[in-house]
Amino acid sequence: MARAFNFCAGPAILPVEVLQQAQAELVDYQGSGMSIMEMSHRGKQYEAVHQEATANIRTLMNLTDDYAVLFLQGGASLQFAMVPMNFLPSGATADYVNAGSWGAAAVKQARLLGNINIAADCEKDIPTRVPDAAELKLTPGAAYLHLTSNETISGAQWKTFPQTPAPLICDMSSDILSRPVDYRQFGMVYAGAQKNLGPSGVTLVIVRKDMAEKAAKTIPAMLRYQTHVENDSLYNTPPCFSIYILALTTRWLKNFGLENMFRRNRDKAQLLYSTIDASGFYRGTAKNECRSDMNITFRLPTVELEERFCAEASKAGLSQLKGHRSVGGVRASIYNAFPVEGVQALVSFMQAFEKRNG
Ligand SMILES: Cc1ncc(COP(=O)(O)O)c(C=O)c1O
Repeated sequence: MARAFNFCAGPAILPVEVLQQAQAELVDYQGSGMSIMEMSHRGKQYEAVHQEATANIRTLMNLTDDYAVLFLQGGASLQFAMVPMNFLPSGATADYVNAGSWGAAAVKQARLLGNINIAADCEKDIPTRVPDAAELKLTPGAAYLHLTSNETISGAQWKTFPQTPAPLICDMSSDILSRPVDYRQFGMVYAGAQKNLGPSGVTLVIVRKDMAEKAAKTIPAMLRYQTHVENDSLYNTPPCFSIYILALTTRWLKNFGLENMFRRNRDKAQLLYSTIDASGFYRGTAKNECRSDMNITFRLPTVELEERFCAEASKAGLSQLKGHRSVGGVRASIYNAFPVEGVQALVSFMQAFEKRNG
């Protein structure tokens, strides 16, 4: 089996066991004579998949009954608009942290829909970073505070979250379920699935039921969280296949254990950061205390060397290392499913490349 070490930022590597199971049951799902994609989303077999996906999320996140688990469509990008539609009434102000491209994208959509205050702006800071909680300029009585737990492009991650009187709303697209988190500190969390949870096409939302309930009834049904809470994400046809893969991926994660996954993620990231720090050739781009465990971003002395690095790495089976087109450089995305051996292979490649070119 020829599997590349796939460092893609998303859609990203999935556990091979999950792909193999999906392959084994693709044509004939559990004796039904059809695939999971071809059956009613209101039938017993799909219902069991939907329930397992929800239950796995509840268990992994240790969620209490006052939170709903939703599987929506439109990616994290639609959440940038749904959040203010549902939680920012006219006359109120929402606080936003702008610490990178994704935070900025959320800000841009929210501005179209209501009053917002930028509680901290470090989008353009070099080294890249997230702000200290003490830096935040919060609005008294704010409707909510929005932040991005891990800036996928810049490689900066919140290690702990600020405590605020306003509900905390967090885009966790690129580090969801990579570490244990106390979700009771959030009013709502959302994540496109295509990094740590499964394939693209489904967006996970967890939301406090009392918040969803209070949103204006004039919001169109599909854009109102309460519609999906009341219908267990089955108001319309859900992305059944994506939710099925999410169920398998979260089952795999439950079996591995979230604490174990966190330790493994930290060790993988540490291996790369220590290689960068031990070299005068590679230079990390994020401030040390907020370096991401998921997206390891670094530069080489010249753009030409970066291009050669990515091209040669790709030939050696280390694929998709090119940094995001907006910032350049190199980015190794090492989500939950990325194997330790792939990180070790990258470290050896980096050391050999430095010897040849340093
Ligand atoms: C942190 C973060 N937020 C939002 C998005 C956008 O997600 P989607 O493509 O699912 O809309 C991404 C995509 O990479 C991301 O990394």
